[in-house]
Amino acid sequence: MLFHHRLLLPHLLICCLLVLAASHQESGEWTCEPDDEARISAHFRPGIVTIDGRANDWADVDGFEFPLRPALDPDEDKQYKAGKMAVKALHDGTDVYFMLQVAGDYVYSKGDDHMCPSVALMFQVGESATYHNMGGCKESPGTCNYTNCRGHEVDIMHFSIGNSIPGRLYGGNSVNEEGKEDSVGLVDMFSWNPHCRNIDGSGPSGNSSAAQNDWRGAWWHSSFSTNTGYIEVDSPYGSSGQKGTYYFEFSRPLRTMDLLQQDAQFSIGQSSKFSVALWYPGDGNPWHGSAHYTVSCDWVAMDVVRGYSTHKEVGSWDAASAFAFVISVVALAVSVFVGYLLVSKSKSIDFTPIDRL
Ligand SMILES: *[C@@H]1O[C@H](CO)[C@@H](O)[C@H](O)[C@H]1NC(C)=O
Ligand SMILES: *[C@@H]1O[C@H](CO)[C@@H](O)[C@H](O)[C@H]1NC(C)=O
Repeated sequence: MLFHHRLLLPHLLICCLLVLAASHQESGEWTCEPDDEARISAHFRPGIVTIDGRANDWADVDGFEFPLRPALDPDEDKQYKAGKMAVKALHDGTDVYFMLQVAGDYVYSKGDDHMCPSVALMFQVGESATYHNMGGCKESPGTCNYTNCRGHEVDIMHFSIGNSIPGRLYGGNSVNEEGKEDSVGLVDMFSWNPHCRNIDGSGPSGNSSAAQNDWRGAWWHSSFSTNTGYIEVDSPYGSSGQKGTYYFEFSRPLRTMDLLQQDAQFSIGQSSKFSVALWYPGDGNPWHGSAHYTVSCDWVAMDVVRGYSTHKEVGSWDAASAFAFVISVVALAVSVFVGYLLVSKSKSIDFTPIDRL
């Protein structure tokens, strides 16, 4: 990896080691029976959500509830016990928005990412990119490049809440003094497999200033009570162990200026493939591989739906549309009558000599 990321590196290493360990146990076999019903729709709902980590503005957006199972051993017995993860999405014609809701006690340890939950979104970019092994390119870190892993690209957004303030916005092109992406919180990455991951804009063919962190995100926990906003000195923001729900909210432009297959590109009216992962420190222990859950053992479909096709507006004959119909019938009758008047009047005018006008 050319571009070391201070916080993420331990995750990557642990992840790589576990995938290695798992692939030994699996002896090349990967069995997966995904739920055929599992898919989400991003409808056109402009102007209803704000990226603040709060979920009340999402209340009337439908989502899908996914059981969370260990990414490397998607066994029902090992499911995340506290509950399912609700995933919701919408778009406003320019940006796509996501809300992830998952039950979990407020766990806290300042600056220790492994003692705080963390989430990731992963999208298929290349047509050959598999969910399993994060793209599934067979090359190793020393050899994977844009040529021999072509078609295996996946786009990853990872949000680590260990050092981030609830309700505040992270991501975008935040850059620190060293010219690197801000190490707090939210990173935009791409990968060909678990060993070949890079921050967008870095990688085997060098840095590209065209590549950017296109994601923005915020988080919240239902046990927090402030309405005025937290700052860093308020940390911890709640009492440790308090029951509740975590909210993770994200947005990104449907299209980005990526030129290197590092970003998924979304189109209105089309379907994309994605997945969601959760790392959660269980029983007061820092999270590790077995606490890395995903919503499915394969890609989940996400439809970016055209405007004005939300189910509320389709096929419902409510009072408003009945009224609109009556109005249009009345308008038609009036215009026919006016037309008749004009025609009959113009007939009489036809024969009026000009000098009398
Ligand atoms: C990609 O890696 C292979 C070795 O696996 C090498 O032969 C090839 O030249 C590399 N391509 C680029 C564009 O670096
Ligand atoms: C990319 O940028 C980083 C820091 O901005 C620098 O350390 C690194 O050498 C650059 N890599 C290449 C291949 O130019």
